[in-house]
Amino acid sequence: MQKMKIDNYEEMLELILDHSHEGVVLCDHQGKIRYFNRIYGETFGLSASKDIGKHITEIFPDARIPIVARTGTPEFGVIYRWKGQKLVVNRIPVKEKGRVIGVLTQVLFRDIAELRELSEKVNALQTKINIIGAELRQYFQAKYDLDDIIGDSQPILELKSQVRKHAHSSLPVLILGESGTGKELFAHALHRLSPRAKRAFMVINCAAIPKELMESELFGYEPGAFTGAAQKGRIGKLELVEGGTLFFDEIGDMPLEMQAKILRVIEEKEVTKVGASKPVPVHFALIAATNREIEALVQKESFRSDLYYRINAIVLKIPPLRDRKEDIPPIAQHFAACSECNPSQRPIRFADEVFSVLREHDWPGNVRELKNIVNFALHNLASDESLIRIDHLPLSFLKKRQESPFSPSPLPLKKVIRNKEKEILQEALRATSGNKIAAAKLLGISRSVFYEKLQR
Ligand SMILES: Nc1ncnc2c1ncn2[C@@H]1O[C@H](COP(=O)(O)OP(=O)(O)OP(=O)(O)O)[C@@H](O)[C@H]1O
Ligand SMILES: [Mg+2]
Repeated sequence: MQKMKIDNYEEMLELILDHSHEGVVLCDHQGKIRYFNRIYGETFGLSASKDIGKHITEIFPDARIPIVARTGTPEFGVIYRWKGQKLVVNRIPVKEKGRVIGVLTQVLFRDIAELRELSEKVNALQTKINIIGAELRQYFQAKYDLDDIIGDSQPILELKSQVRKHAHSSLPVLILGESGTGKELFAHALHRLSPRAKRAFMVINCAAIPKELMESELFGYEPGAFTGAAQKGRIGKLELVEGGTLFFDEIGDMPLEMQAKILRVIEEKEVTKVGASKPVPVHFALIAATNREIEALVQKESFRSDLYYRINAIVLKIPPLRDRKEDIPPIAQHFAACSECNPSQRPIRFADEVFSVLREHDWPGNVRELKNIVNFALHNLASDESLIRIDHLPLSFLKKRQESPFSPSPLPLKKVIRNKEKEILQEALRATSGNKIAAAKLLGISRSVFYEKLQR
């Protein structure tokens, strides 16, 4: 745009009117044409030199402009038929001190049917979007609250108070801790306490998504952006999150090229779909977690230092279970009561000696391992039993107990062998993803023997 046109008010006005997609004509109170814009002139075949000053009825014999000038009553959204087309017209009286001095007419050069069809389409799409949006939000919800995190040890109480303190900010949070310490649980709770709680909580597992798919998963793609791309394209998670929380789980495993792209998104707050030319703005809060030694990764240059400094504004470090053994009994009791491990919801108690055995363990798999152990013990309980004893625990725990000088009574050999056998069967089933025939083969026993042992 030339500088002059902007500075000159009159020329600027004309510029605006001539770029409008709507026809505009101004008549005086007698109905004489004083002005029309470019699209009006082009559509009706008028020229300024020839037609300005003519009475509007010389061009449109049935024009209603003189009537509006006389009555001073505007007409909005009126349909005007012209050469078989239906045009939508607004006729607005222009008044000065209560007297009509002219009539401004706007013409929408769109067939009314087309417009109605368009508006119906838009309405239908809007309804669809609302429904899908609601379903989507349902799908991408955070599932756990701070109350779902069990444990009264000092570090857990301290972490919970940090979560309460920081949930209201939109600063990035980095959650560190060994595998199974509850990082994901804390991420859920952070989102639930944040002002974004009603919005999406979107998990991106950086270790699970293949490198080649990560970009389209995060950024989305335009229709036909690459061979194999879905015909309609795809919206990426970064765009889909719409003001919610993005949880980059296992961020230490994010490929380097992806780290560079994510860094750009965080800094510029916009994403460009694969195959698209223009970026769109995105809004989200970021939580990241990893069980890797991230500082060592930065040293080794397998994690970008600039991204690391971007995501670690607030760091929550969850200590391993062996460093907070006082949490073991309440967490074990929690799992024994939860519907996932105890679907029949029968009341379960633990013998005191069980807790002392559990406390002796090192818990390399942390809370996840404890959950598995409790599950194992529950499966070992007979249907009429409600007390978990040491002999319900996996053999590795029993062995420790037997080696211990404080062991009160060693178990009968038969029971020990049974327990070990059971463990081996379960291990084989796990290794073969539950395929019993393959598990029998793995153990070098016949199918029937395997079934017999399994039955027992
Ligand atoms: N304090 C806790 N109270 C109750 N359940 C817990 C607690 N900590 C962890 N869990 C449970 O233990 C399991 C492992 O937790 P989670 O998935 O959050 O671990 P993680 O730190 O993300 O592990 P990974 O690094 O392997 O992904 C889950 O089933 C979770 O619900
Ligand atoms: Mg996790």
